[in-house]
Amino acid sequence: MDSTAAVADAFPELDEIEDDDLRARVVAAWATALEENAVDDVAALPWFPPAQRKHDITGETLVGHVRDVVRGSLALADSLADSRGADVDRDLVVAAALVHDIGKVYEFDGHDDTAVGRLVGHPYYGVHPVAAAGLPAAYAHVVLSHTDRTPVEPAFFEAVIVKRADEAAAAAIRATALDDLRDA
Ligand SMILES: [Fe+2]
Repeated sequence: MDSTAAVADAFPELDEIEDDDLRARVVAAWATALEENAVDDVAALPWFPPAQRKHDITGETLVGHVRDVVRGSLALADSLADSRGADVDRDLVVAAALVHDIGKVYEFDGHDDTAVGRLVGHPYYGVHPVAAAGLPAAYAHVVLSHTDRTPVEPAFFEAVIVKRADEAAAAAIRATALDDLRDA
């Protein structure tokens, strides 16, 4: 399977993006990340660099986490648009959530941290594949502002939504890890 097909297969939520050009650029950004890192199984990518991991966590994959963030972001956006009449760009929410952690593809190589992981960090390096795909600056902003690993604060509503959905999705993985330890 080529990388474009692999990305489409990994993220069914791409269908939520109405703008065909935007959807193609999100796929292209992910395809670039996979190709530049010679990733042949996108579903096997971990969410957290394996070398920094103290315990295996059930279901801890990058694709699973990104899908959690897309669905959580959409639920927040749709709820607030419904109850508050919030003016929200739904395509921006979905596409930004899909690329928010794309830099993580560059942070590890198998079980080893990469120089990108040690010296740059995923929110900074993630700007590269997003920009290379021709996505507007708003997407690089979400990549930079979604985590407290940078000093960049979300500058617009959709960026706040992705940041908060990401925090909740990450907390869900950590809660699962605690349950795993209790079961051990
Ligand atoms: Fe994330």
